[in-house]
Amino acid sequence: MSEFDLELLSDDHDRKGFRCGKVCLERYLCETAKGHLHKGVSITRVLVERNARKPKPVLGYFTLTSRVASAANWPGVTKSLPAMPVSMVLLGRMAVAEYWQGRGIARLLLAAARQIAAGSMRGAGGIGMAVDPADEELVAFYAKYGFRRVDNESLRMFLPLDSLC
Ligand SMILES: CC(C)(COP(=O)(O)OP(=O)(O)OC[C@H]1O[C@@H](n2cnc3c(N)ncnc32)[C@H](O)[C@@H]1OP(=O)(O)O)[C@@H](O)C(=O)NCCC(=O)NCCS
Repeated sequence: MSEFDLELLSDDHDRKGFRCGKVCLERYLCETAKGHLHKGVSITRVLVERNARKPKPVLGYFTLTSRVASAANWPGVTKSLPAMPVSMVLLGRMAVAEYWQGRGIARLLLAAARQIAAGSMRGAGGIGMAVDPADEELVAFYAKYGFRRVDNESLRMFLPLDSLC
């Protein structure tokens, strides 16, 4: 990420100007993400160009949060997992600015998210990273990076901790 910086979302960033083509993801960044970060609900990080002037344009962002779920039958999960809900990290949202789409930014964001999630789970417990893709096209996107559907009833996908990084 030599020409980019990954930063915690703050007032340094141009949240209003972010356009990715999905209004719900634009609105979340503009209106909700900072409040969630301050309240400890979830953590949003943004990718910016190094040396960008404030308010720094957001090239892309992702949001991580902790979840518990019953995952005993999920792909890649150890067979001896207890039946009770266990901790994991949820990649709640990820989006790339329209101008930057198709230039490898999501690949960078996902690699950073995986590394951060793995570090947090190796320190505090957790079995892997889950994601809820919005549609089948995005299922194909996450499958490219090793995520697998957890069942046929939802689009939820999962990557076990050992495969994160
Ligand atoms: C989906 C999205 C995050 C991809 O970001 P991007 O920066 O354009 O993706 P990249 O350039 O890093 O592409 C990485 C790889 O994923 C593939 N890819 C990109 N978008 C894809 C899509 N919608 N479906 C399937 N594969 C996709 C690319 O072809 C590339 O494959 P390659 O490594 O084999 O060349 C971006 O288009 C976006 O923000 N869309 C709107 C918001 C959204 O849908 N977010 C997802 C929330 S779950």
